[in-house]
Formats: sequence, structure tokens, C-alpha cells
Amino acid sequence: MNPSILVTGGAGFIGSHTVVALAAAGYQPIIVDDFSNSEASVLAGIEKILGYQVPCYAEDCNQYQLLRKIFREHQIVGVIHFAAYKAVGESMQEPLAYYQNNLGSLITLMDAMLAEGVPNLIFSSSCTVYGNPDHPPVTEETPIKPAASVYGNTKQIGEEIIRDVCAAKPLKAISLRYFNPVGAHPSAEIGELPRGIPNNLVPFITQTAAGLRSELTIFGGDYPTPDGSCIRDYIHVMDLAEAHVSALQFADHQPSTQYYNTFNLGSGNGHSVLELVHLFEKTCKTPLPYRIGPRREGDVVAVWADVQKSSAMLKWNTKRSLEQALEDAWRWQLKLSGNQT
Ligand code: WQD
Repeated sequence: MNPSILVTGGAGFIGSHTVVALAAAGYQPIIVDDFSNSEASVLAGIEKILGYQVPCYAEDCNQYQLLRKIFREHQIVGVIHFAAYKAVGESMQEPLAYYQNNLGSLITLMDAMLAEGVPNLIFSSSCTVYGNPDHPPVTEETPIKPAASVYGNTKQIGEEIIRDVCAAKPLKAISLRYFNPVGAHPSAEIGELPRGIPNNLVPFITQTAAGLRSELTIFGGDYPTPDGSCIRDYIHVMDLAEAHVSALQFADHQPSTQYYNTFNLGSGNGHSVLELVHLFEKTCKTPLPYRIGPRREGDVVAVWADVQKSSAMLKWNTKRSLEQALEDAWRWQLKLSGNQT
């Protein structure tokens, strides 16, 4: 019997790719997702890749009794917790909704895990905890900066809550600090599904290249970077998904019943927005209309990861290039736009 793992937010972008990676590694994923920021069509995409339907509870995961019932009925041995609101701008308008949802769900989840003796928790955190680092690349020991948004603060506080629970109770947990996940599954059956105008760079690029947007606006060309545009660490979403499996196995193999650690998940390389635009044009052989516009409030100038700790301890490294991520993102966009080549 394959060990069962509960994936909250498993119909989301990173969640759905992690469900596929879990199955490929011999686990039985179980999804709980309220579909407030994901589509039911994702389940069909996962089924096409895996060849079977992954059990899914279309529910808010902030339900103590429901979680305990799922843990018992599926003999869950670990949880990967993605479910959270994640729009940086929206979080500044609706702080209570963000604290209630993101932290309330996490607390309810850990309460239910402890009640049912579920030992392993993988928490979806973010490089936003580093704020604007003085000297990238950042390691896990780089000082945490005051969060630039309520969203980022829910990740910082979430890490602290988990750390304190693991010091007091029989729980093994790992916080994974994502950099910028991009790309899609190579089958083009699942990928990023932004609602409305994409906040993130790569879906905006692919929608522009597909003619759905007239041009990309690059938010700022006067930053103190080599070409004036911001620098980020873009990581293929399948590499990120596979890191969750490595982290789960690492936590499960810990001899103690109490354990907590944090890991950076990035490629270890920084690329500017302009570099990404030109790399997309070259890799996907598609011109990209863009203009340089004003800076976006809250943007970090430059951040990329030092991934030595993840590599050494999780025995995990990225395997896919940024070119592959852009090719996979473009193939997914063409599928969405109905003109797959
Ligand atoms: C990347 C760069 C923009 C859109 C994301 C998530 C955040 C966190 C970290 C998980 C920036 C520029 C963007 C556009 C642009 N992930 N850009 N024009 O801001 O690094 O944050 O990763 O927790 O939740 O949002 O990613 O893709 O929005 O921006 O010039 O139309 O692209 O200014 O420099 P960001 P992003």
C-alpha cells in the first residue's frame, strides 16, 4: 500500500505539480482544495498524466473534524500544506482575511495532525521572508527582514508557529522557502492558471506572446542592477515539486519525533527581467513586445538563493534549465490558447 500524503491546495499551481511528483515517487496523494483560487479542470489534467483519479475533497482545509476524518480514513503519514491566499497586493487590502485564512488553517491543520498522530509536515514558505537582502545570494541563515506585505508576514509568522509547535509536541516539520516558480509539466496537461491579469512575470510574458496582452510592461528599468531591471531566481515548477518529495522523505527519516528546519528552493542563479524576456524570445522563437514602465511598489531589487543546504541535506538539486521552463510555459500557454503546435 503506497503511503498516503494529504496535499492541501493540491489543485493549485505548485500543489498540482507536487501531486504528480508524489505519485511518481510511489506515494498516494490525497487533495483537499476549496477551489477558491484553482480550477476543477486541474484534476482532469492530473488524471491524464497519472492515468487515475486522485481523491479530492473540495473543502476548506480549516475544518478540524474533517481533517481528522481524512487522516483516519486514509492513514495519512504526512501533509504538504500549500493552501493559503497569496496575492501580495490583496493582502494589504484584506489583512484580517489573510491572517485568519493563512494562519487559522495552519493552526487547525497542526491541531488535527497532533490529535491523529500524523508525524510529518511540509510547509509552503517563501523567499519573501528575506525582504530586500543586502548581499544576495541568501542562505537560510540570512537575517529575516520585516515583511514587505501581510502575505509575506503570514509566511514569517507561519514558520515561527511551526517551529514552536515542533519544540513542544511530537511533530517533524520543514519550511520550504520558494523563490520564483515558473514553467509547467512538459505534457502541457497542468500549468499555471492565473485568474484575470497575471501578477507574475512569466504568465504575463506567455499571454503577451500569445497575443492575449498587447505588450509586457517591465516594472522599472532604473534599478541598481547591470541592466536596470530586477533580478530573481526562477526555478522550474517540476524541480520545486520534486524538492517537496525529498523534504518529506528527509523529515520522515528523522529519528526524533520532533524536528524543524528551513530550506531554500531556488536554482541558485539570478536573472534580470530583461534577460528573461530576451531568453524567452530566443528559446521560444517568438518576439515579445514590451516597454519599460514605472517601478512596482514593494518589489525587491535583487534576490536569488544559495542552495547548498538543500543540496547537501535534502540530496536535491534542480535538474531543469530556465530555457526548459520557458519552453514548458510556452507549450502550456499554446494549449490554453487552443493553438498548440
Ligand atoms: C518578478 C519580476 C517584477 C510582472 C513572486 C510571488 C511571491 C513569492 C516570490 C511565493 C519582478 C517583474 C512582473 C510584470 C514585470 N512567491 N514583473 N512585469 O514579485 O518576485 O514574487 O515570487 O511566495 O508570492 O509573487 O514575482 O513574477 O510578480 O515578478 O516587470 O508584468 O518581474 O517587477 O521584478 P515576485 P513576479
